[in-house]
Amino acid sequence: MQPKQKTTEYKIPHSGPAREALRVKGQFWTPAWIADAMVCYVLADQRKTIFDPAVGAGAFFVAAKKIASTIQLQGFDVDAEVLQTPSEELSPSDFANVKIADFVLTPPAQKLPAIVANPPYIRHHRLSAETKERLRKLCLEITGQTIDGRAGLHVYFLLRALQLLQNKGRLAFILPADICEGVFAKPLWQWLTKHYCLEAIVTFAPEASPFPNIDTNPIIVLLRRAIPQATIQWAYCHEAETDDLWKWMASDLHSNSYTGLTIHQRDLSEALATGLSRAPQQKLSGQLCLGDLAKVVRGVATGANEFFFLTCEQIKQIGLPEKYFVNAVGRTRDVKGDQLTDETLGALQQANRPTKLLALNGEPLESYPASLRTYLQYGESLGLAEKPLISQRRIWYKMESRIVPPILFAYLGRRNSRFIRNHAGAIPLTSFLCVYPHRTEEDYVRRLWQALNHPETIANLALTGKSYGAGAVKVEPRALERLLIPEKIAQEFGLTNTAPTLFEM
Ligand SMILES: C[S@@+](CC[C@H](N)C(=O)[O-])C[C@H]1O[C@@H](n2cnc3c(N)ncnc32)[C@H](O)[C@@H]1O
Repeated sequence: MQPKQKTTEYKIPHSGPAREALRVKGQFWTPAWIADAMVCYVLADQRKTIFDPAVGAGAFFVAAKKIASTIQLQGFDVDAEVLQTPSEELSPSDFANVKIADFVLTPPAQKLPAIVANPPYIRHHRLSAETKERLRKLCLEITGQTIDGRAGLHVYFLLRALQLLQNKGRLAFILPADICEGVFAKPLWQWLTKHYCLEAIVTFAPEASPFPNIDTNPIIVLLRRAIPQATIQWAYCHEAETDDLWKWMASDLHSNSYTGLTIHQRDLSEALATGLSRAPQQKLSGQLCLGDLAKVVRGVATGANEFFFLTCEQIKQIGLPEKYFVNAVGRTRDVKGDQLTDETLGALQQANRPTKLLALNGEPLESYPASLRTYLQYGESLGLAEKPLISQRRIWYKMESRIVPPILFAYLGRRNSRFIRNHAGAIPLTSFLCVYPHRTEEDYVRRLWQALNHPETIANLALTGKSYGAGAVKVEPRALERLLIPEKIAQEFGLTNTAPTLFEM
């Protein structure tokens, strides 16, 4: 049942209305090397039917026919048009049992033995309030609890499919990694792994992503409706289009030696605690993490950058006194390399980029000079004081304060994340994290910065951060403090555990 054959290539539009239309319906097709493997898993034990709740152009139907030409193809899609996408492998009769309907809200009546899906990835803010309410009730009905409202439609696809999975049935879903990382993830996986047997998770290196042009980091979830097990298989696929993924499924997850895949057997409890999209992580005794050496705090959230974060030119034009401002950096792309110097700030000022943060301590309005008072009154007239973040401050124009951090971390970027040595005394806004080493001698800070920027340390970011595909990671302050510094790097740069005392934020 080796399914290797060339299948139709689907092109994904990069931008414009065609891309927007894809986003609204979540229409991104699964490539053959992934569809073949997922179908192979769910069709083990010669199942006679396969069900795809979001059929689209039929990538999983093509894969299923390669494995068993007589297989019964069933499914749903909301869009009749996509079923007619021309294909060499499928004819209209293959779609005869596809219902044009919403799978989540109007599901099929019967239980299903084999479910495979690449559900639409539609984020919560694209769902109507009415749909969200129905989804909330659905979750309560299926799991006995509600989950955070930020869960996208794909989460409910999974829940509905789990509800319809027959006893001993198998399910394979390819999903964005937020399914394991989002705010809703913990209760979802606690519930799921109590009621289903999670068999395996497949993750992908950025260079092996099944969707190389899309800014999501996908994972494959493989499970059965059976008694839960205490261990799972966790695979990291580092070779795009590798046959190994399919071969692993064909061995029913029994083999574990492949060149394109690294497979770990993990305790379910460890995998859930670490995060299912992350590699096993064990801090060995004596191994250092950043939190042993430094404190991490997010950059300043102004609540209204256009008002508080200005260019030198604007300050001059409005006639505001310089002494109320501090140097600041707003965007990660404003700092090109891994050092922020006076020259960097000078170049930004030349380019008319904002570099000045209005850093008021919240003194009474009357104590300020006339030009500043007028500016603040203008801010009030814009309704700034009522904006969500600003309204939480006792005095709306009082800025969050930060000691100048010696090191910054640029934490979401399509280019590599990096640690930036701050020689310019600048305060960062929220695109950065502030790193405050426990020791402040110049030589120590330099060694720490070099150790953090070492490629082997940077590689560990993927273990703690949230991944966004194409190698981009977003890291929260506490997560960055868990960043492991490889032992040999710590030794090379002479780093040892230090007590946190110097900086109190
Ligand atoms: C990501 S595509 C996957 C298509 C195909 N199965 C594949 O893997 O290439 C998701 C499909 O879900 C469909 N869809 C969106 N919302 C849906 C819903 N509520 N019920 C059923 N299908 C839906 C879209 O029209 C789209 O064809």
